[in-house]
Amino acid sequence: MAIVRVGFIELWVRDLEKSLEFYEGLLGFRLERKEGKSAYLRGYEELEWSLKLTQAELPAVRSLGFKVDERGMEEAQAWVEQEGLPHRLETDWGRPRMLRVQDPFGYPLVFYAGAEKLPRMLQEYHLYRGPGILRIDHLNLFSPEVERATRYYQERLGFRLTEYTEDEEGRLWASWLHRKGNVHDVAFTNGEGPRLHHFAYWLPDPMAILKAADILAGARRTNQIERGPGRHGISNAMFLYLKDPDGHRIELYTSDYLTVDPDLPPVRWSLNDPRRQTLWGHRTPKSWFLEGSLLLDLEGKPLPTRSSPLVGIPEHVT
Ligand SMILES: [Fe+2]
Repeated sequence: MAIVRVGFIELWVRDLEKSLEFYEGLLGFRLERKEGKSAYLRGYEELEWSLKLTQAELPAVRSLGFKVDERGMEEAQAWVEQEGLPHRLETDWGRPRMLRVQDPFGYPLVFYAGAEKLPRMLQEYHLYRGPGILRIDHLNLFSPEVERATRYYQERLGFRLTEYTEDEEGRLWASWLHRKGNVHDVAFTNGEGPRLHHFAYWLPDPMAILKAADILAGARRTNQIERGPGRHGISNAMFLYLKDPDGHRIELYTSDYLTVDPDLPPVRWSLNDPRRQTLWGHRTPKSWFLEGSLLLDLEGKPLPTRSSPLVGIPEHVT
């Protein structure tokens, strides 16, 4: 399927003002529109909104958005009909054509073609705030069936594998899949699911990641820093993981590598390799392997989750 890239995420939050204080006030996202119970935000490089926050009773994930081209929209329509998946056509602000579908694993995907453009902000440096968030980079999804989901996303949705993690018995624990030409647009992580593990935004450089940590520290919000800053073994990227006021996990991410070669060999990691999670050997907090955000079905009801048959977490944790 002609998916171009990951495009947006919509989160349900319990207190919109509190969430805006975090995303707009501390992280410096551009707030482009507030309408009713929803707010639309973007990074400085983006010409379209990429983060929608909607006030609701419970924190959850409403949409995982992927941009497609015209052919992709037709292919997506044919795919949902062929598979008999629950779906409907929708519109949103600046998004006249959206196809919402619950995929075979439960993930609430939205495919959209075309979008109204917002003013270009990339070089309006005097207007940058926070660490300078540029653009959405990827989604990471908890799955109790990583092997099946990875194969399906490759074979039916056209994603390409860049890196993966296996245990001693050769069972797949995690995979990184891309469309846009860097390490991933979507990743699957073994665990209770389907749930969202995190969503990630690209920053201009590693110093911007450090600046984000300083901003959280200055605001006396270090309790929201869950992991990092550091450099991943997987993806080679610099990272910082934060929890928003509802516990949704956002990663600030930069400096991975080019993956456009169609014959690029995927990188294999062993589950208990200490360099896999953080190249410098730091241990990962246990919460990182256990906590995630609930997903919503087409009617806005939380999706039931199930635990994974692959039990346990990697050895290198705190
Ligand atoms: Fe990530």
